Amino acid sequence: MIIIKTVEQLQEIRKNINGTVGFVPTMGALHNGHISLIKKAREENEIVVVSIFVNPTQFLPGEDLDAYPRRTEADKKICEMCKVDYLFMPEISTMYREEEVLIKAPNKSFILEGKSRPGHFDGVLQVVLKLFGIVQPTNAYFGKKDAQQLSLIQQMVKNLFLPINIIACDIVRESDGLALSSRNVYLDETQRKDALLISKSLYSAASLIAKNVFDVNVIKDRIYEVMEKLDVEYVAIVDREFNEIKTIQRGNSIILVVARFGNTRLLDNIWL
Ligand code: PAJ
Repeated sequence: MIIIKTVEQLQEIRKNINGTVGFVPTMGALHNGHISLIKKAREENEIVVVSIFVNPTQFLPGEDLDAYPRRTEADKKICEMCKVDYLFMPEISTMYREEEVLIKAPNKSFILEGKSRPGHFDGVLQVVLKLFGIVQPTNAYFGKKDAQQLSLIQQMVKNLFLPINIIACDIVRESDGLALSSRNVYLDETQRKDALLISKSLYSAASLIAKNVFDVNVIKDRIYEVMEKLDVEYVAIVDREFNEIKTIQRGNSIILVVARFGNTRLLDNIWL
């Protein structure tokens, strides 16, 4: 595995690659969710590039940019074990120069996550577009865990005519159901236990739907009931384009929940 720090070095290498390139952008503190993306990229491409970059422009003032877990050495070992070819770990000054062309995410970036974190998705699209420009991947891998991010990236690729396949990957969970997240390390023991109610509420919704209950209000009530003791920020039921829906449509619905544990926001969702 070759570790790359500069854009120029990666561009030079990219020029000489003819085969398929699978790309997994991350912010590091790699866990089994990230690893599942990397493994899929490894299976489906000749060359695999992973980036680790804690992108400052997607954090709002007062968010956890400084506290965000950084585990460079462990991350390098994980990438090595997953047979990554190139690990791109740029500095902030490498990725951002003085006069930036800004990206403005579309209207759907101001609902749900974007409502709680205004400007967040502008920063995400900005860095992902830069990374796409440098890596020029054939296939890029994103988790369904960040469903709205995935949807906005799919839309960006389509609208900017980027010749990249976006591959949506399933959510990886702990054996007890908690969706893996780099931010789970912020939870204390009690919060970790309570956090289980998030996935429980989604499973409970899925079992209602299995019994042909499709009314979104009924399903939302059940979800809030299961998460009663939590500080729930939102429960939303949308179609794949992130329009709110009134009735579940199998194959085209996503239930999203966010709950707060102190300053930590945990996201989860289920695709139906
Ligand atoms: P990060 O949070 O590090 O996540 C990197 C990728 O891993 C994202 O596509 C995310 O959806 C996926 N992922 C995280 N947890 C997962 C889980 N439990 N199961 C499956 N996939 C999971 O998302 C970002 O970084 C950044 O916003 C980034 C796209 C890198 C831009 O800075």
